[in-house]
Amino acid sequence: MLQVRQISDDLIEQQIGGAPLGAMDSLYIDDVLSIVDRGLENLPSYLDLYRKAVKQAWSPDELDFSRDKQEWEFLSPEAKRRRIWSMRMFFDGEERVAGLLAPFVWAAPDKEVEAFAATQLADEVRHTIFFDRYWREVVGTSAANLDELVEEIGIKPHENEAYDYFFYKWLPAQAQWLASHPTDLEASAKFVTVYHLVVEGAMFLTGMRYQLEGARRWGRTWGYYKGFTAATRDESRHVLFAVRYLRDMVRQDPARFVPVIHSAIEESLPLIEKTMTPPGGEMSYYGGKHLEVAWPGYTPERLRNEMIEYAKSALGRRLHAVGIQMPLSTPN
Ligand SMILES: [Fe+2]
Ligand SMILES: [Fe+2]
Repeated sequence: MLQVRQISDDLIEQQIGGAPLGAMDSLYIDDVLSIVDRGLENLPSYLDLYRKAVKQAWSPDELDFSRDKQEWEFLSPEAKRRRIWSMRMFFDGEERVAGLLAPFVWAAPDKEVEAFAATQLADEVRHTIFFDRYWREVVGTSAANLDELVEEIGIKPHENEAYDYFFYKWLPAQAQWLASHPTDLEASAKFVTVYHLVVEGAMFLTGMRYQLEGARRWGRTWGYYKGFTAATRDESRHVLFAVRYLRDMVRQDPARFVPVIHSAIEESLPLIEKTMTPPGGEMSYYGGKHLEVAWPGYTPERLRNEMIEYAKSALGRRLHAVGIQMPLSTPN
């Protein structure tokens, strides 16, 4: 159920929009995400979003991971296995979206979209570097450089086919198409629908919401929490950009763009659920202390189902703001 607290947009903007990295431990993730829902009412312009990105830029080097590291050393192998899986999905995903956005910047139909997209590219690189630092200081690795680390943590095709399809097949192919056909606006709309609305909006933001809410309920609001909360604030800008971009296209020429967005959603919808399938279907990835502390009374299945519902309802609200209404239920 969507809950937006009864405080003004100005106050939210001041508390969340203006929060420095060091204050991220006092933020609730649902307040950060409420910026997306509030933004849907009165969509910001591309340059509004550009200015926000400049104002909200942060550096992973300013984070202190010493508490995270202390905790890590005492975690059970079971807890480490669970966390490593979920963070590999994010780390690899951030690196992939960073690596695949440049063709969209090149294909931007105007200078204002280009200005925003360039800030997004810098954001995605920042999120990748955030994980690189975290891995080196907390999880541990012998990788000599970022390339080796990405190779080490990358999700392999057999581990999650839907993930592999999004990040290693669909997005690279579409990015390549945009690079060679920068004036193809249908391809641009299709790319933004899947990259921004499905992958970032439905998949990343849902995972971030549950991971960070769980961490806060557990009292783990240290370096990782601060950095990943700042990353969520960045992602919420990316999603608002996408809604604005697709809505502008739909208003301009609904007959041309509605079917493109519609079919991109239909194609990717069943894959959202599939990316949330743990390795080997092993539901203990959704369980353990995390569940006991943060979601008492939940089973792993219930948590996963709630996450799928959360992802779909968020996607539905954003599509509605774009000007598209479609049923998002998927046959099992
Ligand atoms: Fe990101
Ligand atoms: Fe993003």
